[in-house]
Amino acid sequence: MRILVLNGSPRPDGATADMVRAFARGAQEAGHEVRTFSVARMNVKGCLACEYCHGKGNGTCIQKDDMQTLYPEFLSADMVVFASPIYYFTLSAQMQAVIHRTYAFSIPKNVKQTALILSSGDAFVYGPAIAQYYQSIVEYWGVKNAGIYTANGSRNKSEEKRQELYAFGKALKEESAQ
Ligand SMILES: Cc1cc2nc3c(=O)[nH]c(=O)nc-3n(C[C@H](O)[C@H](O)[C@H](O)COP(=O)(O)O)c2cc1C
Repeated sequence: MRILVLNGSPRPDGATADMVRAFARGAQEAGHEVRTFSVARMNVKGCLACEYCHGKGNGTCIQKDDMQTLYPEFLSADMVVFASPIYYFTLSAQMQAVIHRTYAFSIPKNVKQTALILSSGDAFVYGPAIAQYYQSIVEYWGVKNAGIYTANGSRNKSEEKRQELYAFGKALKEESAQ
């Protein structure tokens, strides 16, 4: 299946990127096509709430920034993985901008499953990010949650975490349409 991975960390060699790489290696070895985007390095502006997308735009956004690269990726993906560092108890602002801009298409029709990967300094800081993921992605899109993986403190960039993420990617199976 086609897996879209969004990394919301601005650090190319950070802990989120480390988990994403291990996941991608496993998923590719299992035969999946993995497309990873460092969204924090892309130019994605916040939603203008102009409602062009729900009117004249017919599902397209009026803002012609790097979200135009991501829109077709969302619409052709079978699975989307949201990977982000925890900033102030939630997803990074760059990841939030991407999620808000999905307002244009509302629900990506081909996506059947999603996953969440989070890195943080401390433990027990994931509540708001997980609540948002469940409500605005899993439930709103009507998809299966394939897994939630977290790393904090010394577990960041650890071999144990890499193995966990690799195994997750490697075991992934395509979900049939609901
Ligand atoms: C602006 C900012 C806010 C942060 N807020 C939190 C936080 O609320 N809780 C926490 O445990 N760590 C917090 N951190 C630490 C990061 O989540 C942590 O360093 C993470 O491993 C970074 O991931 P990365 O290496 O992929 O960028 C924050 C870091 C930054 C830069």
